[in-house]
Amino acid sequence: MEIFLGFVLLSFNGYHSVIGTDDFYHDTFPNDFLWGVATSSYQIEGAWNEGGKSEHIWDRFSHDNNNWHNDTGDIACDSYHKYMEDIQLIRSLGVDFYRFSIAWTRIIPDPIAYRTGRNKSLNQPGVNYYNNVINELIKYNIKPLVTLYHWDLPQSLQEKIGGWNGSDIVDYYNDYADAAFKTFGDRVKHWITFNEPWVICWMGHGSAEYAPGIKEPSVTPYRCGHHIIKSHAKAYDTYKHRYKTTQKGIVGITMNSDTMHPKNEINQEHIDAAERGQQFMLGWFAHPIYKDGDYPKVMKDNIGDRLPKFTPQEIALNNGSFDFFGLNHYTTVLVEPAKKEFGFPGDLRLQLSRDPSWTGSGSYWLKVVPWGFRDMLNWIKKEYNNPKVIITENGITDNNGTTNDPHRIYYYRQYINQLLKAIKQDGCNVFGYTAWCLLDTFEWNRGFHEKFGLHSTDFSDPARPRTPKRSAAAYTEIVNQNGFPPVGTSTTASSSSSDVQNLIMLILLCVSFFCILNE
Ligand code: GAL
Repeated sequence: MEIFLGFVLLSFNGYHSVIGTDDFYHDTFPNDFLWGVATSSYQIEGAWNEGGKSEHIWDRFSHDNNNWHNDTGDIACDSYHKYMEDIQLIRSLGVDFYRFSIAWTRIIPDPIAYRTGRNKSLNQPGVNYYNNVINELIKYNIKPLVTLYHWDLPQSLQEKIGGWNGSDIVDYYNDYADAAFKTFGDRVKHWITFNEPWVICWMGHGSAEYAPGIKEPSVTPYRCGHHIIKSHAKAYDTYKHRYKTTQKGIVGITMNSDTMHPKNEINQEHIDAAERGQQFMLGWFAHPIYKDGDYPKVMKDNIGDRLPKFTPQEIALNNGSFDFFGLNHYTTVLVEPAKKEFGFPGDLRLQLSRDPSWTGSGSYWLKVVPWGFRDMLNWIKKEYNNPKVIITENGITDNNGTTNDPHRIYYYRQYINQLLKAIKQDGCNVFGYTAWCLLDTFEWNRGFHEKFGLHSTDFSDPARPRTPKRSAAAYTEIVNQNGFPPVGTSTTASSSSSDVQNLIMLILLCVSFFCILNE
């Protein structure tokens, strides 16, 4: 009954958004728009101690039983052994690129020996693995979009130099980035230095929800952020001076941001609070890199001496250290001023909430708010002078991993439609979109409980079989049609146009209500 009711609510929400005030928009994306799908190393690879790989902070965090049901990524989707099969799934989606991450510990298992010169060679089995993945992708004309750091810091660096809290990390990270550019850059042309610094620093070093599990909210997240920004800028500079001319690739960083929407839209204090929240979440990292080299003023004013300072040379290096802006976006939150901290970094004194009428998902934090996506893109356009943006993650969870997933189809269609409006109607400079996630994976501290996949993974079977969900075909249709062409002008043979799908949603809604009334 609960699931049934959930679906009714979902259908109702769909009905309302599609034919209500915010009409579905029929048009196609620009011809050179790029479509992709993503994963990350620890979430899919498994083989945690194979092929010479060393331990990283997520191995340790998981083995210390910090996750839902004590789940770990020891095996995960076993993609280390099943990558060929995964590339076939990617291929059948019809996408242009695959975003995945390299595990630092596979290619440099002992970063301290590497830096000091005790062992200057890369770990060959790790290099072979990523070479195989990259070559297999290229064989099928799928571009590799590589994230260098998706949260799996070598455990030795955490213990010996304090991880992201220590200033030496900048040089260690640069060693690693340099090695990756040098080894894979003849074929990889799109690089992301970091995935979601806000999550690394706040959830890993402030709230302790994520590895390395440090709960020191007043200072450590800011030190972490400082070292990440410096590491990014240095790696960008390394690429620019050592590799760009020959390899001709592009480098950016991926930041996550919820849309911060004023709880009361006509209350100036709420409007100001939402702006502060946005500056604090996205501006923390985007302002130094995409605006002027330094932190947003509101952060400096509110945090004072606990916020580290950049030198003039560092400001110069940060400023403009990008070729594109990577954005991970999932949801929207309502913001109002608060007297004390409520979980979000406390310095800004914000109270965050979610509208109870918003449709939910398999994650408490993820509510379906498609219009918030368009707002977010417009905020970036205005704030950072309309940079070239790529959406590097967007998607929705459930908990049962059903292959019959109209809620996911609904989410993708609505969010991608808002993206289309942002590009075509608002002039936002977005050149690509990435669905999260290729398959159900190890979802960090929520273990295998929360499932984002376009394909299901059976974690109870040692062979980890994958099965396409209905959403995989729906995403492929959007990719093949390059959006939502006006009815009758579809570029593929498929007959399920947007209107047919909307009509089906409406019929399901009516049937659902009818059933409920008769229960
Ligand atoms: C992001 C992260 C991904 C994935 C996603 C869904 O924060 O980059 O790895 O877990 O959230 O929670």
